[in-house]
Amino acid sequence: MLKGKNILLGVTGGIAAYKAADICSRLVKNHANVDVIMTEHALNFITPNTFEALCHNKVVTDTFDRNHPWEVEHIALADKADCVIIAPATANIIGKLANGIADDMLTTTLMACECPKLIAPAMNTKMWNNPILQDNLKKLKHYGWTVIEPASGHLACGTEGAGKLEDPSVIVDWVINQAACEKDMKGLSVMVSAGPTCEDLDPVRFLTNRSSGKMGYSIASAAAARGAEVTLVSGPVNLPHPANVKVVNIRSAADMYEAITSRQKDTDIIIKAAAVADYRPATVADNKIKKKDDGSDLSLPLERTDDILKYLGKHKKKGQFLCGFSMETENMIENSRKKLEKKNLDLIAANNVKVEGAGFQGDTNVLTLISHDSEVELPLLSKWDAANRLLDEIMKLR
Ligand code: CTP
Repeated sequence: MLKGKNILLGVTGGIAAYKAADICSRLVKNHANVDVIMTEHALNFITPNTFEALCHNKVVTDTFDRNHPWEVEHIALADKADCVIIAPATANIIGKLANGIADDMLTTTLMACECPKLIAPAMNTKMWNNPILQDNLKKLKHYGWTVIEPASGHLACGTEGAGKLEDPSVIVDWVINQAACEKDMKGLSVMVSAGPTCEDLDPVRFLTNRSSGKMGYSIASAAAARGAEVTLVSGPVNLPHPANVKVVNIRSAADMYEAITSRQKDTDIIIKAAAVADYRPATVADNKIKKKDDGSDLSLPLERTDDILKYLGKHKKKGQFLCGFSMETENMIENSRKKLEKKNLDLIAANNVKVEGAGFQGDTNVLTLISHDSEVELPLLSKWDAANRLLDEIMKLR
């Protein structure tokens, strides 16, 4: 996702500095070129060798290193960076950046950076709650920095509370959000639905399907990385919250209907990747349904759920783009075309679960994008790449 991108990782002196190695490794695995600048205090927690082994670039530590062409280097690193991430960021670096202090390699470089800048603070809860620190963060936000708020949990100082460095996977997701794509969807509001729905039968049982939510989450992440304002209406899944995306968690088809239809009018593009239940138990038992002593079978009356996409097609706003998904096991094109017409869609992304690498659970998909007068067969792609190809097609058609 970060191929050809230069990411500048700033590491400052906190106990969470060891987690910066994981961040560096994840950025490299995403094919970024990573340059690392460490403050003098960071050297007390982790050595430059760790980062050099991971990113294969010389780690920069001090403006006055005589073996280093420092006079140009801090400007060169600033010019080259597509995105900066400071992780972990101490109260000290936040204070310096908010107040224009540039007294070492990291702060002088950041002073010259015009690319998107991210900062992931990590510190003791009382330091985090200090109003001076909070004012400094407000100031950084005002100057365009994105603050990745720390998580809550057990801290190295032995207390529980806010101040724990956010998970490295979440931090890297933010870098991808800022640096991976051209912002060609800026100004557009996009709503994506993802995952399965759960239709309760009694307090312990429910009907659902095999959807993992990965396709819809990739579409939401990609649209956000391309600059769109994204709302993701998600059924129960086991996936992290994508960076810069508003997530609305729902459980049933009825919840999803409410969440989506109530937001329809403010949305430019709606992409319905969710696997919504077509039927739900006609009644939900208050207590657990018990087996019959006579050994007889059980039949469950099911009733139809409302078709959300059909409603959206019927009430389509002028200029609104509506994209559905269609999962088939036979006659994929013919059946998908019928859904395109019946639900008044602009595009339908069809996939056949019987094709290897397509469909639920996996990290890849094989999509055919069908509009009223075009048909684009995509090859086997990662869900991220498939999501971007789908967004390219939407941008071309709308
Ligand atoms: N969909 C919806 N509301 C429902 C059911 C489905 O919005 N109650 C949406 C899905 O999110 C998807 C598309 O409709 O974008 C799938 O269309 P559908 O006709 O439901 O496909 P299948 O469920 O595959 O249809 P069938 O079971 O008839 O094959």
